[in-house]
Amino acid sequence: MIRDMSSIPLHANQISSSLPDATAAVLTVDVRNAVGSTNDVVRELADSQSCHGLVVMAEEQTAGRGRRGRSWHSPAGANLYCSLGWRFELGPERLSGLSLAVGAMLAEAITEMYDIHLQLKWPNDLYHGERKLGGVLIEMLGEADGGRQVVVGVGLNVDMPAVPTEAIQRPWTDLCKAVGRPIDRNPLAAGVLDQLAKGLHQINRDGMSDWLGRWRQRDLLKGRSVVVDGVPPVTGKAAGIDETGALIVETEHGRSAVSGGEASLLSIGGPA
Ligand code: BTN
Repeated sequence: MIRDMSSIPLHANQISSSLPDATAAVLTVDVRNAVGSTNDVVRELADSQSCHGLVVMAEEQTAGRGRRGRSWHSPAGANLYCSLGWRFELGPERLSGLSLAVGAMLAEAITEMYDIHLQLKWPNDLYHGERKLGGVLIEMLGEADGGRQVVVGVGLNVDMPAVPTEAIQRPWTDLCKAVGRPIDRNPLAAGVLDQLAKGLHQINRDGMSDWLGRWRQRDLLKGRSVVVDGVPPVTGKAAGIDETGALIVETEHGRSAVSGGEASLLSIGGPA
C-alpha cells in the first residue's frame, strides 16, 4: 500500500495546476524520467533561456550530487529530486545564508502539509527524529550575471527502497516512515515549490534575516557538543547561527563563527 501510493508517477501538469495562481505564473515545471543530476539539467537549460522559475524534477538521478562532493542516492520512482533556477536582484553579498533559508522553507512546507516536527542540522540538512530526511544543494549559475543566478537543488527521501549500506553513510529516514502513511509525491512537490517560490521572492524583497530567524527555531545542534571538520577542526558547544548563517561554536578559547564544513555531534548515537 505504502509503495503503491508513493510510486504514483510525478506529473508536471498535476503539480502546476495545484499551485496557487501567483506561483504558477512564475514556475515552469518539467518532469524527466532519468537524468544525471537535475541541477545539471537546469544549468544546461539556462544556457538558452532564462533560468528564473525553471523547475526540473526527475524520477531517478544516475549521478545525483550532495554537498561537499558526495553523491546523493537517487533510486527510481521513490523520492523527490528537484531543482529550481532563480535570479535574484540582490547581489551575492546579500545572499549569504541562502542554503539555510531554503532548508527552513522545506521544513515549514513539510510540517504544514504532514504535521510532523522537523529540525535543521547546520547548514541545511532536514532531520526527523535525529535521522536525515533531505538535503539542499545550491549552486551558482555562472558569474556572468554577478552571481545572482542560482540553482536550488532539493532531495527528499519519500519512500526509500532498501538501501545498500555503503550508499548512505549516516542515519536516514523517509517521509512515509516519519508521517506513518503513504505519500503521493505530486502534492508534496507542489507544496514545496509553492513555499520555495514565495520564500525566495520574499528574500529578494526583504533580505535573509526573517528566514534565518525561522531556521533558528529548528536548530538541531544548539547547545550540543559538536566538531566541525576543517584545518584545524573546531570543537565546542553549538550556539546557534549569526546573521550570515555561520555556525557559532563556543570553544575553550572563546566563540568562533564557522562558515563552512561539516558539523558532527560528539555524543554517541548522534545524527552525523
Ligand atoms: C546534501 O544534503 O548533501 C544535498 C543533497 C541535494 C540533493 C539534490 S537531489 C536534486 C538536486 N540534484 C542533485 O544532483 N542534487 C540535488
